Amino acid sequence: MADAGMPQISRGLEGVYVDESSVGKVDGQEGRLYYRGYPIAQLSDNSDFEETAYLLLNGQLPDRQQLESITKQLAESRDLPKGIVDIIKEMNSKADPMDILRTATSALSAYDTEVQDASPEANMRKSIRIISRMSSIVATIGSVAAGREYVAPDKSLGHVENFLYMLNGARPSKESLDIMRVMFIIHAEHSSNASTFGTLVAGSTLADIYSAITAGISVLKGPLHGGADEASVRMMRAIGKPENTESYIESALAGKQKIMGFGHRVYKTYDPRARIIKEYLIRLQDHSSEEVRTLTAIALRAEKLMVEKLGQSHGIWPNVDFFAGPVYIAAGIPVELFTPIFAASRSSGWCAHMLEYWKNNRLFRPLEYYTGKIDLEYVPIDKR
Ligand code: SDX
Repeated sequence: MADAGMPQISRGLEGVYVDESSVGKVDGQEGRLYYRGYPIAQLSDNSDFEETAYLLLNGQLPDRQQLESITKQLAESRDLPKGIVDIIKEMNSKADPMDILRTATSALSAYDTEVQDASPEANMRKSIRIISRMSSIVATIGSVAAGREYVAPDKSLGHVENFLYMLNGARPSKESLDIMRVMFIIHAEHSSNASTFGTLVAGSTLADIYSAITAGISVLKGPLHGGADEASVRMMRAIGKPENTESYIESALAGKQKIMGFGHRVYKTYDPRARIIKEYLIRLQDHSSEEVRTLTAIALRAEKLMVEKLGQSHGIWPNVDFFAGPVYIAAGIPVELFTPIFAASRSSGWCAHMLEYWKNNRLFRPLEYYTGKIDLEYVPIDKR
């Protein structure tokens, strides 16, 4: 019940600007996304993860020497200390892969002699080490879960190719590599989403970057955020056959369930990343497994129904997570790794925002409008 003195409250900080930034722009009305000014489609068509990470961290595309330098730094850092591999093995089959990623990433700080060095130069070096090693951790989580030993990285491979090599113990096919190149670029950055904001809140206290990134991983895990890619493909598998799609969606909506992979706090039109992923998925159909073709047919029917029912009328459209699942499956990625891969890619956006924010740091400390009682008298327990 609002009282006269009640201030304007924006729950979930909906519509609230907390800072300026030049890292990423999300145009929710027009359905556009820019990384440091470049439209996402130009990067997904032409770039690779090393170049995109450099762009996000430094604010401009690298020249050849700069690209070679970040490529070398990422390659040099990708090997995991034995203690980190032991954590992954110990938690394997006992914990959710996002919990393993969160724990192993946090533990990386014990192996970084610069962890307490808050200089911009050290934070840039730590960012590159974190971006490199989070992918190695995710690959190792997948490799150990499949019963394989730690696959030592191959420094001669690109970032994404090495990820797939460490995951599967074999060089990837051209198709898988190209799919995952796009997925790593597309998931890298998205302005002040919940996990980026969580990263900034942690770093705004001047905690180190490992603490800040650990906070980001924790936030991304939730099904309302990064966990939706796994949840939406589980829904598609539960639907089972394309002809079951409409009845499944209708009854879910009737039961007030949210359909994972749809809707967005900022996009009130088609998520441009969903468009790109959907195009890839359709291009893949001719040489995909029966499962991928079935999931794609279900996804397209679900999209049609959801757009008819909730698109124009409610601003609920497919988001980045909806078509991602079938694409990852086409690349041979197990469902449990969908969100960890999202995190490994988004580490570049998290670090870019953190380095930017620290240039003009301000502790995050919002207010709550207190509605409880005050000045109560303490009552001893035998009188309660
Ligand atoms: C990501 O912020 C980012 O940038 C995030 C992200 C990134 O790259 O970092 O883009 C990645 O997190 C994408 C979103 C992934 N999450 C999901 O797909 C989960 C399903 N989507 C919903 O939970 C929801 O759409 C959110 C959480 C994404 C956004 O929700 P809001 O802005 O908090 O809106 P809301 O939950 O208040 O919904 C408003 C109305 C409600 O109906 P009413 O109660 O008003 O009648 O729309 C309905 C909701 O029930 N609604 C949905 C729906 N999403 C919203 N109804 C059915 N299915 C849905 N998916």
